[in-house]
Amino acid sequence: MGRSIAIILIPLILLQLVATWVFYNRHWEVVTERLTNSLRGEIATVIYMVERTETKSEREEVFKMARWTMGLLVDWKEGDLPFKRPRNFAFLDSRLAEALEKLDRPFALDTRSTPGEAEILVDMDPGYLQVFVSRARLFSSTTYIFILWMVGASAILFGVAGIFLRNQVRPIIRLAEAAEDFGTGRSLDGYKPEGAQEVRQASRAFIDMQHRINRHITQRTQMLSGVSHDLRTPLTRMKLQLALMKENEDNDNLISDVQEMEAMIDGYLAFARGEGTEEATEVRIKSLVDEVIHAAARGGQDIKRTSMASAKLFAKKNAFKRCLTNLVSNAHRYGGTKTRLSGGPDGKGWFLIHVDDNGPGIPAKQRGLAFQPFYRFDSSRNVNTGGVGLGLTIAQDIANNHGGKVELSVSPMGGLRATISLPG
Ligand SMILES: Nc1ncnc2c1ncn2[C@@H]1O[C@H](COP(=O)(O)OP(=O)(O)OP(=O)(O)O)[C@@H](O)[C@H]1O
Ligand SMILES: [Mg+2]
Repeated sequence: MGRSIAIILIPLILLQLVATWVFYNRHWEVVTERLTNSLRGEIATVIYMVERTETKSEREEVFKMARWTMGLLVDWKEGDLPFKRPRNFAFLDSRLAEALEKLDRPFALDTRSTPGEAEILVDMDPGYLQVFVSRARLFSSTTYIFILWMVGASAILFGVAGIFLRNQVRPIIRLAEAAEDFGTGRSLDGYKPEGAQEVRQASRAFIDMQHRINRHITQRTQMLSGVSHDLRTPLTRMKLQLALMKENEDNDNLISDVQEMEAMIDGYLAFARGEGTEEATEVRIKSLVDEVIHAAARGGQDIKRTSMASAKLFAKKNAFKRCLTNLVSNAHRYGGTKTRLSGGPDGKGWFLIHVDDNGPGIPAKQRGLAFQPFYRFDSSRNVNTGGVGLGLTIAQDIANNHGGKVELSVSPMGGLRATISLPG
């Protein structure tokens, strides 16, 4: 919006500056010169006539004529000029002085002291002529009107442009909001292309893109769950056959391999489920966190909520619970004895939820690895926990779908701190 207004405003101001400059330099100058010259001519006429008079009454006649025909208030004063040249300099004075120079007589002028009048004195030994002339005769009063018109017209133009621009910018803002909604998993049902042709084209392209992405996600989910499902059948058969076989060491290894495969397939399925078509709604974060805590506590985990600001955020309820559950169950499995949840807004537009434990944590350098699918650290591989290494991957994926992220750091309790940040 600001940029568009600048695009209109800068040429407008430039145009005005150029127009004003041209006006002052050419038009105003020429007009003023002509006006002052014509005044000089009239004064010269009066001088010419006064020079040819003998008596005071004849002179008075000339003055009367000057007043009637030229609108000049002329009087005769004895003595020398009481002041020199322009008395107090005004813009007009230099122009007027330039014209009066051509009279070839000493003169003085004062355009300020008498309101609305200019006083001009011309030396005529032994006395001098005092001439009062209306200032309006000396310069073109259209100047002010011209500037007023320019400023007024551009104000109107600017106002109209502002209204039009706002209407042009609004659809773009709406498109940006729609894109943001899509990024945070909200539905775009109410969004329709509007505005200028180009904006509508962009909106349509965006809607198409959104459909394509959704289709792509659905396809991926379907394929993933299809493959996982299909693999289960032969796996079950293998398990059955293994159960019928005699027990020996080879068998045991095979059984544990098959179990691992089963766990992996379960992980895939869970991942696929997390990406379903659930829609984001407004949820109370606090009660959602409590639900997760209750479920975990039932499983024997020492888990508590310490401080948690209440807030309503847009989230896919089940997916989000899954994200949090993954972190909580990690804290239980690899952490120490205690799990604590806390959270609140960070003042920069994010809502944070921390999951803290008092376990060994993960060294800073390896934290990035933990998010890779199927990645498990050696320490946890030895423990028979049954994890497949998808928990953090899924949690990160879900957070991303909400326009947020999951980050790992050090907990104040000494162990790992997993933080979910959501916009809002
Ligand atoms: N709170 C934690 N403390 C220490 N190590 C952790 C913690 N959370 C995760 N890890 C390490 O990060 C690895 C990856 O975790 P992730 O949740 O992705 O997989 P997983 O727990 O092994 O399997 P899954 O969650 O799929 O059952 C874990 O194997 C573990 O080594
Ligand atoms: Mg896990």
